Amino acid sequence: MKKVFLLLAVLICLFAFQSTFAQGNTAETVSRIGIVSAMDTEIDLILANADIEYEDHVGGIVFNVGTLCGKNVVIVKAGIGKVLSAAGTAALFNRYDISSLIFTGVAGGVGDETKVLDMVIATDLVQHDYGTIQNEGFVWTSTHDNTNGGYYSCDESLVNLAYDAAVDTVGADHVFKGTIASGDQFVASAAYVKTLQEKFDALACEMEGASVAAVCEQYSVPFVVIRSMSDKADGDARETYDNFVDMAADHSCTIVMKMLENMK
Ligand code: ADE
Repeated sequence: MKKVFLLLAVLICLFAFQSTFAQGNTAETVSRIGIVSAMDTEIDLILANADIEYEDHVGGIVFNVGTLCGKNVVIVKAGIGKVLSAAGTAALFNRYDISSLIFTGVAGGVGDETKVLDMVIATDLVQHDYGTIQNEGFVWTSTHDNTNGGYYSCDESLVNLAYDAAVDTVGADHVFKGTIASGDQFVASAAYVKTLQEKFDALACEMEGASVAAVCEQYSVPFVVIRSMSDKADGDARETYDNFVDMAADHSCTIVMKMLENMK
């Protein structure tokens, strides 16, 4: 009889252990920094430098849990575009205690200032494709969840930390702080990129930042978006992107690691 009880106890323990880890160790209480990107190339260097303790596989997303530059982190490739990046960020916040979020990746440079391989540290982000299709065409409107005219503000101290790390990496002449415009389009049009500059005063355009920012605001998690320019979002953008995406992505990763090193 004693043996049966012992066996039962062992089985219960095994079941509890298995279900905890099968669900992605939801019992974890350690506070971590979330590092999110859209694509493998935008996060490969970070993963190569991290000590990953375990991986959670949830709904097709891999949450890499461990340490980077001495800080507790969860590193996530959420996917391309506003939908997947927002969904991945919300899943991250629902599973872990995330103290702050850093989004890293590449973008198209907007305006004459930002050149290929320059860095843009977002001070705020806006969804450039949110609005109404009227008879006259597309009319942009502020997102309805937003009280700041459609602009989501990054955390000032994270912005400054990112800026200093970027200057240290690529030099002050190649680092800009300002607005990033996000939308579900790869922009490869000189006319549209001019519109982004005139309408939103944007320095860069990409496909995830503002939706991640919206989720961060909902969950009151401080965040910053760091982007390295892979192209100029003009008629040559596809070719330029193909040539520079890997180098640009690695610059952004290097800056994230420097940021973590300098974080208290
Ligand atoms: N990411 C990198 N380049 C981009 C572009 N031109 N448009 C949108 N997202 C981008």
